Amino acid sequence: MLKGKSLIEPMDLSLEELNEILCLADEIIENPTAYADACKGKILATLFYEPSTRTRLSFEAAMLRLGGNVMGFSSADTSSATKGESVADTIRTIACYADIVAMRHPKEGAPLVAAMKSNIPVINAGDGGHQHPTQTLSDLLTIKTLKGKLNDFTIGICGDLKFGRTVHSLIKALSRYENIKFILISPEELRVPEYIREEILIKKAIDYLEVERLEDIIQELDVLYMTRVQKERFFNEADYIRLKDSYILDSSKLEKAKEDMIIMHPLPRVNEISVEVDNDPRAAYFRQTKCGMYVRMALIMKLLGVE
Ligand code: CP
Repeated sequence: MLKGKSLIEPMDLSLEELNEILCLADEIIENPTAYADACKGKILATLFYEPSTRTRLSFEAAMLRLGGNVMGFSSADTSSATKGESVADTIRTIACYADIVAMRHPKEGAPLVAAMKSNIPVINAGDGGHQHPTQTLSDLLTIKTLKGKLNDFTIGICGDLKFGRTVHSLIKALSRYENIKFILISPEELRVPEYIREEILIKKAIDYLEVERLEDIIQELDVLYMTRVQKERFFNEADYIRLKDSYILDSSKLEKAKEDMIIMHPLPRVNEISVEVDNDPRAAYFRQTKCGMYVRMALIMKLLGVE
């Protein structure tokens, strides 16, 4: 039962629960009007201490399309965090007003602290460079929709694998499906964190390879997941400037790729996918964005326990 639970990282969901959410999202896509009043009378609070376009607005669109209401803040500057209020006190306050919370915070672990102090479900909408489980739900729904399965494929994940929280959550989630091979493409300095390599890839004996050049392996991929170099996580601007354009996917690089490879990106993008690629039938990133709204509708329904 998902009712009343919080979602802080992908492993908080069993495979069965994950599949239930993805199946409900499929049903909502098929027949959205059937769900137009599913959350009537319920309130979602979006507490965003860090900027967002897709996650916050897709959560809000999701609740509005379910007939519920939304409230919240889109920046710490407009909340009492500026006066020194703790996350624990904020969540105890918001729990008096709302039925469910989506929280984004620059500090890793802040949504977990909130969940521990909350008597309503808390959804981690991204915590620092750590996890972003609802982006992963969007990613899984996109792959399932376009490839028809969540097993037996090779995925290349390219860019900032160190600070990219979407990468960490996606690797964790996909590690539970059969016969997934990961090709991790990044500069030396931006490789996946040790805990992802040790606790997920090595411990679970998952087939993975770490490489620096996208051109050398693109022909092997069924899914290419591009990511932005996370400027906001760098301590040193010179390092960011040196690394930011490490990978730029353009039409010429795609010549060697499979005809049915899908190109994903959690967005926002900066330079890592040229706009010319948007017209390539393999480009799936805006579809991925739309999947995000439907899968968040399904997640909200499940955590609130509404039919
Ligand atoms: N993918 C994602 O988290 O985008 P936003 O930062 O715009 O929410």
